[in-house]
Amino acid sequence: MIIGVPKEIKNGENRVSLIPSSVKFLVDNDNIVYVQKGAGERIGFSDDLYEASGAKILESLEDVYSKSEIIVKVKEPLKEEYALLKNEQTILTYFHLAIEPELTEVLLKKKITAIAYETIEKEDGSLPALYPMSEIAGKMAVQIGARYLENDFGGVGKLLSGVPGVYPARVLIIGAGVVGTNAARLAIGMGANVTIMDVNPFKLQAVDSEFKGKISTVISNEFNLEKYIQRSDLIIGAVLIPSKKAPHIVKEYMVKNMKKGSVIVDVSIDQGGIFETIDAPLSLENPTFEKYGVIHYAVTNIPSCVARTAAISLNNYTMPYISQLVSKGFIAAVKSTPELYKGVNTFKGKLTNPDVAKSLEMPYSELSMLIGF
Ligand SMILES: NC(=O)c1ccc[n+]([C@@H]2O[C@H](COP(=O)([O-])OP(=O)(O)OC[C@H]3O[C@@H](n4cnc5c(N)ncnc54)[C@H](O)[C@@H]3O)[C@@H](O)[C@H]2O)c1
Repeated sequence: MIIGVPKEIKNGENRVSLIPSSVKFLVDNDNIVYVQKGAGERIGFSDDLYEASGAKILESLEDVYSKSEIIVKVKEPLKEEYALLKNEQTILTYFHLAIEPELTEVLLKKKITAIAYETIEKEDGSLPALYPMSEIAGKMAVQIGARYLENDFGGVGKLLSGVPGVYPARVLIIGAGVVGTNAARLAIGMGANVTIMDVNPFKLQAVDSEFKGKISTVISNEFNLEKYIQRSDLIIGAVLIPSKKAPHIVKEYMVKNMKKGSVIVDVSIDQGGIFETIDAPLSLENPTFEKYGVIHYAVTNIPSCVARTAAISLNNYTMPYISQLVSKGFIAAVKSTPELYKGVNTFKGKLTNPDVAKSLEMPYSELSMLIGF
């Protein structure tokens, strides 16, 4: 197979989809890997390192798209890339199509096979290719929140841990999944007073047994959100309803009631976000705005702040699927790997993820009918 690794062009994006060790594995297994010049340079993976691993370096983004059968990316293709996508190409990346109607139309028109990392799903409902970025984003959300609580970043000037005699900051985490529990781990480690909410009591049970009473668990509903949001210094949005737009469960009136100089970090923003006060994602270059005296941080590629860790971890989780795909071919790979089957969002001009189809109010086709099994 001919695999292409473009340099990411999203604002502030430093991750690279394949690290040199993954390239070596793919080349050793009879694949050709094209890497765009400078794709990994910002995180210590030089072109020389890629060449030593067997990659061929290509000068431009156009070259990588035009020469490759399979494109492996990190973030969704941006508008500037739409024209470069080749008909019937296969693309693996985080797509988040439930909030990307225009990109979805492009993928369908070009009959692209789009495999979305975030919808690769195991039988137990876990999302193995979303996991590593959620783990990092959860931890980063606390670091970021702590920074914006400082006076010189516009916050009220609260140290997350407090000091003896001064109460620690109150951190509220909404969603007790991978982002939420990792945020909790760091926030507790930093000495904050932590509350976590979820609609699923079994998630709260798991949190309770892991953290052994060091964290308060509260069921998520409008009544409790209103009550806990008002008293919190840092709120982390960590909700996911897979393949769907996130619900705006934190209403404008709740944010209005928050203390001035407190901070919101909406990690769920890549699926539309849970705060009514955030209309659209921001960028790593301009990650915040202030409304009702509250700092809002809403960036869809938080792991890019620690891109080397993120790229290596991403490869640890995605390489098993990529190697299945290139060694067996698309149809055999999705037939033998149910979680990869679930990752397929578009195929030969059809939308094959039911939840994305529902979110976008577009027709859905069952992949098994299209590939005949
Ligand atoms: N911004 C970024 O850079 C970035 C990076 C990684 C992940 N994410 C996103 O973070 C979000 C969370 O990801 P995750 O891996 O933790 O998902 P997850 O599935 O592990 O957890 C989501 C949790 O949300 C809970 N939930 C659903 N509805 C809720 C509600 N109304 N109130 C409270 N909880 C509710 C679910 O029960 C679940 O426990 C996703 O949108 C993911 O794409 C963003």
